[in-house]
Amino acid sequence: MVKAIRIETHGEPEVMKLIDVELPAPTANEVLVRHTAIGINFSDINVRRGGFYYPEPMKMPLTPGNEAAGVVESVGSAVTEFKPGDRVGYVGMHGPFYHFTGAYAEKRIVPATRLVHLPDNVSDRQAAASMLKGMTAASIIEHMYPPKKGDVILIHAAASGVSLLLVQWVKYLGASVIGTAGSPAKAAVAKAHGCDHVILYRETDFVAEVKKIVPEGVSAVYDGVGKDTFKKSMDCVRPFGSLVNYGNASGHVPPIDLLDCASKGSLSVSRPAVSFQIAKTDDLRRNCAHFFDLVGRGVVKVEISKTYPLVDAVQAHRDVEAGKATGSMLLIP
Ligand SMILES: NC(=O)c1ccc[n+]([C@@H]2O[C@H](COP(=O)([O-])OP(=O)(O)OC[C@H]3O[C@@H](n4cnc5c(N)ncnc54)[C@H](OP(=O)(O)O)[C@@H]3O)[C@@H](O)[C@H]2O)c1
Repeated sequence: MVKAIRIETHGEPEVMKLIDVELPAPTANEVLVRHTAIGINFSDINVRRGGFYYPEPMKMPLTPGNEAAGVVESVGSAVTEFKPGDRVGYVGMHGPFYHFTGAYAEKRIVPATRLVHLPDNVSDRQAAASMLKGMTAASIIEHMYPPKKGDVILIHAAASGVSLLLVQWVKYLGASVIGTAGSPAKAAVAKAHGCDHVILYRETDFVAEVKKIVPEGVSAVYDGVGKDTFKKSMDCVRPFGSLVNYGNASGHVPPIDLLDCASKGSLSVSRPAVSFQIAKTDDLRRNCAHFFDLVGRGVVKVEISKTYPLVDAVQAHRDVEAGKATGSMLLIP
């Protein structure tokens, strides 16, 4: 028996209960992983609340969570790349994140094709706090708008999980960063991680503030906030610039008229989904190796602002929904 968070129905954080579940032995191509750290991601909130993703109903009961690090306990008969005692991590299973959750547990059976080895210079906690967010940052930086020297990038909610990695990665690539933040404390975190300017976007008009810094507009906007920021962000981008919406922390982005992209200067608009960045095992492992190299060399620092015992998942979700997080937060089994 292992302890796992279960939900029987969508709802408020209190629908999550810690229960005992039975785990079968791994089949031929599976691995039993004992979790040492579990990543908390906004997608966990969306899965728990329900109604965010496509209208396919989620199979209940379910255990939330897409990301964890830990130690291999046993392997199936056909597994050759992993052995008991190996340090491993995973992010997402095969397919969409809302269908194959299950990380909020002491242990989990994982297909070997979804596991990566953790390098010695990346701790379990760093890995669990950064793989999903780091792969999201990679999908934006590599596929949506790769920042170049001389670019200015506007990154919303710059002290939040994905954004704080983006800030550091963009700076490393030689571009400048304007961040937005919801409080002076978050602004300080964003600055400490490399933001050249931070705008308190709940108190000031961020479009006017951006225009004061770069009158011609920014090269690109990376927006994980969505509903509250997306349309105004269209006015922050220079001609032929790019607006990347990667998240909806404040709610769904309203529909846009494509002609607005023309009138606002031949703007490109995109919406990445991280699961495509890591759908194939080779891509997953190559992307993780590249990201872990940045983390291991200290180019990208993984800020873990808070850890919670697994039993306190309810409180962790309340804190994420209240926007209290900076960087990443973990559940510890
Ligand atoms: N496209 C993908 O594949 C992908 C992958 C990973 C994450 N995401 C999405 O990206 C978004 C950010 O993820 P994350 O892990 O960086 O989240 P996070 O660390 O929890 O940060 C979210 C931040 O958004 C801001 N915010 C604005 N309005 C909010 C509201 N109504 N409720 C809560 N927060 C609000 C807050 O910052 P301030 O206080 O500074 O405003 C908050 O700290 C989420 O929507 C997530 O689902 C998408």
